[in-house]
Amino acid sequence: MPLLNDLVPLKEAALADLRAAADLAALEQTKGKWIGAQGQFTTLMKQVGALPKEEKPAAGKAINAAKAELEAVLAVRRAELELKASLPQEPTDFTLPGRRRLVGKLHPLTQVTDDIVRSFRKIGFAVADGPELEDEYHCFDALNTPADHPARDTQDTFYADLPANAPRPPLNSTNRWLLRTHTSSVQIRVMSKQPPPVRIIVPGRVYRRDNADATHNPTFHQIEGLYVDKGVTVGDLKGTVEFVFKELMGSDVKIRFRPHYFSYTEPSYEIDFTNALVKRMGKDWLEIAGCGMVNPVVFENVGYDPEIWTGWAFGFGIERVAMLRYGINDIRLFYENDVRFLRQF
Ligand code: DAH
Repeated sequence: MPLLNDLVPLKEAALADLRAAADLAALEQTKGKWIGAQGQFTTLMKQVGALPKEEKPAAGKAINAAKAELEAVLAVRRAELELKASLPQEPTDFTLPGRRRLVGKLHPLTQVTDDIVRSFRKIGFAVADGPELEDEYHCFDALNTPADHPARDTQDTFYADLPANAPRPPLNSTNRWLLRTHTSSVQIRVMSKQPPPVRIIVPGRVYRRDNADATHNPTFHQIEGLYVDKGVTVGDLKGTVEFVFKELMGSDVKIRFRPHYFSYTEPSYEIDFTNALVKRMGKDWLEIAGCGMVNPVVFENVGYDPEIWTGWAFGFGIERVAMLRYGINDIRLFYENDVRFLRQF
């Protein structure tokens, strides 16, 4: 059968052709040449129709077997060429510098908070926490700041109506939910839950209805401190504040207490702070915190006996300290999350 005599050399030629294809495009072309619609094997198959009837089955079978062999070699060669195409064309240069992976950093406010917490831990303070969604009782009333107290105006905040199925039930009209205006609310939460002595600091986010400008933002961060024991004095307060600020800002720090008013402390003070940085800003002192001896009324509100226990408390803004420490002049930079700013610290 002349047709089948041609088959073997034709197949060998096709196989050699496929194996020699230099890239995927050449391979596809070669495939077309042999087993495509106009390919030589296809043409051969068509010729089977013209053969005598008894020769047809053997011829068709032989051609199909040869075609299957070609398909198999085609698949192998295609896989080889695909792998080759996926490898770099240039030889690898092992002397090139490595690709650096960008490593993230802690936000400057987190760094400052961590440093403050570390200092207080050294002298036996524990970190306490409380909810940002607070109620008027913990934020104001229990801190001796009743509804008609003028201090409520300076700490106006966002009040919340919670739906009836909220995880915490709606309160009554004299004790609404609000976003806490200061971390002082956590003083009440901690003291209501545990007997004295207490030695805690409370870093956390607070809210005020302030318009954002270079020194204000409707949300910012504070650290509260509370120390309750027998025989605690203003001297302890001063010593503690001085220790922490020296750790934080350097040994040239000076602290000054100025009489002030807070409803939850008596006596109350504002803490002024100075060091070389403050002087460079052209100022003598910078107001940094509020503090005082815990008001006996507050002790009574949480069930502590003010005849036995004394204590001090303070609160200051973390942004303020961070701005001073890093020489940042606009508080809003902390919240923009621009990595060009953040990666400097
Ligand atoms: N809560 C005050 C504020 O947000 C700061 C403060 C003052 C906290 C005196 C205190 C304190 O614990 O005793 O401005």
